[in-house]
Amino acid sequence: MAEITTHDLLILGSGLAGLRAALSASIASSGKIDIGLVSKVQLMRSHSVAAEGGTAAMLRPEEGDSFDLHAWDTVKGSDFLADQDVVHRFVRAAPGEIMQLEHWGIPWSRRPDGRIDQRAFGGHGYPRATFAADKTGFFEMQCLFDTLTRYQNTTRYDEWYVTSILVEDNQFRGLTAFDLATGEFHVMLAKALIIATGGAGRMSGFTTYSHAVTGDGIAMAYRAGVAVKDLEFIQFHPTGLIPTGILMTEACRGEGGYLRNADGNRFMERYAAGLMELAPRDIVSRSMITEIKEGRGFKGQNGLDYVHLDLRHLGADKINERLGFIRELAMKFVDVDPVHEPIPVRPVFHYTMGGIGTDIDGKTNVEGMWAAGEAACVSLHGANRLGTNSTAECLVWGKITGEEAAKFVAGFEGEPKHPDGAVARSRSELFDGLLGRDGGESVYKIRADLRRNVDENLGVYRIEEELQKGVEKMAELKDRYKKITIRDRSKAYNIDLMYALELGCMLDLAEVAFIGALRRQESRGGHARLDYTARDDENWLKHTVAHWTPDGPELSYSDVTIDTWKPVERKY
Ligand code: FUM
Repeated sequence: MAEITTHDLLILGSGLAGLRAALSASIASSGKIDIGLVSKVQLMRSHSVAAEGGTAAMLRPEEGDSFDLHAWDTVKGSDFLADQDVVHRFVRAAPGEIMQLEHWGIPWSRRPDGRIDQRAFGGHGYPRATFAADKTGFFEMQCLFDTLTRYQNTTRYDEWYVTSILVEDNQFRGLTAFDLATGEFHVMLAKALIIATGGAGRMSGFTTYSHAVTGDGIAMAYRAGVAVKDLEFIQFHPTGLIPTGILMTEACRGEGGYLRNADGNRFMERYAAGLMELAPRDIVSRSMITEIKEGRGFKGQNGLDYVHLDLRHLGADKINERLGFIRELAMKFVDVDPVHEPIPVRPVFHYTMGGIGTDIDGKTNVEGMWAAGEAACVSLHGANRLGTNSTAECLVWGKITGEEAAKFVAGFEGEPKHPDGAVARSRSELFDGLLGRDGGESVYKIRADLRRNVDENLGVYRIEEELQKGVEKMAELKDRYKKITIRDRSKAYNIDLMYALELGCMLDLAEVAFIGALRRQESRGGHARLDYTARDDENWLKHTVAHWTPDGPELSYSDVTIDTWKPVERKY
């Protein structure tokens, strides 16, 4: 028998969105709500700690920034696929989050006069990235975690791997999970759930993401009947360190850094003469790949050709004060001191614009279930996200979903029901299905093949032949996955089993991304097709919506909310 625990609210994921949601629900309920905070990693190892450059917010109307300017930048950056009502709500809520963290004690970087400082970031028409040196995510996480310890109503389940989301009659009921340390199987019941598990970047082999970011929450919601949206839109961050993919923050360019090709030229002049290195990421990444393809890059190992990120002219003082972590990373990982040498970089898988489809309050189509942060697709970023809008989104929708879920819990009558059928199915899928397979296929080989497939066929530029090849490969990989053998049979820290479960999640999501990308016959934001080079608003100004079926995703399309700005040509 599985052990059963019960809470009012379960929050799955302990990164920025999860912690902000826990605080928000706690505050909204005056500390009364009983929260279970579940994460497959120890809390401060959540990937949010790796966020570097900043958090966008309109703080300075007196200096020329405005809500409308932030909203317009976001909508234009999204290549007009963002829902504009969502964008308006976001820009108005973001400044409150900056001030809330300020009051909770975060050490924001400051101007000489003591006021909060802000720096430039790509695609933003005003320097509105609020930051804490180049470790913004780390300090935000620490601040939220510290503040959460004031409340006694949250039970942490660190290093618990959730295997399924239990839904009955379109109502959220609970989770099944195993405690990684003991291997014990648990049923966790609750009245409401907030999913805040981040993106799915580890489906790629060259990525800025930590190893834990495997899309589990998105995939489990998808399998539980929740629609996932816009998964074909993947963001490549222009400056991934060669050869690891470690993030070299866009703040390097926000602080004045240059991109140079092998001829020493600042090539962005050719592609975005106005904003240069601070054009939005989709444009900078495409420009870099074009430079490399046309022979103006440097030759790297394993196909990782690159260009240079040059900070030398910034000087040691500025680099140490604003980009100290970047200096440390470049020196430790590639023995390059940016004070004296340029850093080798190339576009790297950084963000999934799509995710769990939600309404403007972060609510999914299942009663009692919300999603926030990168796991969600509230449709803030459309086809291309602007840098620093992500940490801001985590805070804004962490707060909103926490409040909404707390309200729902307060009105919930009775106790959460044990869904016998759904628990039995999950148990059998894990023990008979996954652990019962013995076809000899290796999880590690399939995972490597998945990553190769994504890197080769779902990159910065896409084309029908490669996408088709990618879709076929996904079918083969999913077939092989049915024949895996999990060799480790021990209970404590069975990482073999966890990797197998993570792989299943990534396979499901990569399949949706490939099929969505193949169908979308246009170029928009992070989806750039060599065979359909223009944006096609007449046919494709719409969101891709995918529902899980046993035979693969069923795709449909939904309208984009355009209430202020009609799409126009996107020039920078
Ligand atoms: O470049 C960066 O610091 C990343 C920021 C972001 O993705 O928002």
